[in-house]
Amino acid sequence: MKREIEITSDGSRTLYVPGLDEHYHSIKGALAESRHIFIDMGLNHHSSSQLHILEIGFGTGLNAFLTLLAAEEMVKKVHYTGIELYPLEMDVLRELAYPDTINIERSEDYYRLHQAEWDKDETITPAFTLHKIKGDFTKYEFPKEFFDIIYFDAFAPEKQPEMWSQCLFDALYRSLNIGGILTTYCAKGVVRRMLQSSGFEVERLPGPPGGKREILRGIKRK
Ligand SMILES: C[S@@+](CC[C@H](N)C(=O)[O-])C[C@H]1O[C@@H](n2cnc3c(N)ncnc32)[C@H](O)[C@@H]1O
Repeated sequence: MKREIEITSDGSRTLYVPGLDEHYHSIKGALAESRHIFIDMGLNHHSSSQLHILEIGFGTGLNAFLTLLAAEEMVKKVHYTGIELYPLEMDVLRELAYPDTINIERSEDYYRLHQAEWDKDETITPAFTLHKIKGDFTKYEFPKEFFDIIYFDAFAPEKQPEMWSQCLFDALYRSLNIGGILTTYCAKGVVRRMLQSSGFEVERLPGPPGGKREILRGIKRK
C-alpha cells in the first residue's frame, strides 16, 4: 500500500493513502485527535488501575505510545492488544518522528512498540505490556469479556465499509467487560445506531480542538 507523509495543523505528521484517498489521522491535528479521542475520552474515563485495551488498526503506534506515557503518569497498568493487517515499515515510522514531537527521551520505547514480536506478550515498560496481532480484524475472534477499553480507529466507513458492520460491533461488545468503553472519531448516525443495537449506551461528545464536531463513546452497562 503506497503512503505519503503529510503535516497536520498541530505540526504532527500523518500518512495519506492515495489508493484509498484517506488519511491515518485528522489533518486538523493528528496528535490532538489521538490525545482527545483515545486518551482523554477513553483511557482517562475508565477508573480501573489495571486495564486491557484493544486497538483496531495499530498503524503508526501513536495511540499505543500516548497510552504508554499516560499509563505511567496515571499509575495504571496496561495490557495493550493492537491488531493490524498492513504493518508499517521502520523508515516510514522514523520519518513520522512522533517521539520527537511527543517525548524525545522516550524514543526507544516508541520504536520498541514496533520491533515487538507479533502474537505474543512483550513487556515494553513496567506499566505497559504489548500484544500485537498481525491479522484481519474482520475475521479475528476476540476473547469474550476481556477488554476494558477499545480504541476503534479503522479507516472511515466510506473507505473501508467492511470494518464497520453490525456483527463486528456485536463481537466487540461481547469482548468488553461490564463498564467497558469503546471510543471512535466517527460520529455518523449509522455508526451510532449500530453501537446502540449492539447494546452500547452511546454518548456524542465534542470533537478535538479544531477537528471534528463530534465523536462517539459507547459504554457497556450490562
Ligand atoms: C485510520 S488508520 C489508524 C491507524 C492507527 N490507529 C494510528 O493511529 O496510526 C487505520 C488502520 O487500520 C489498518 N487496517 C486496515 N484494514 C485492516 C484490517 N482488515 N484488519 C486490521 N487492521 C486493518 C490500517 O492498515 C491502518 O493502520
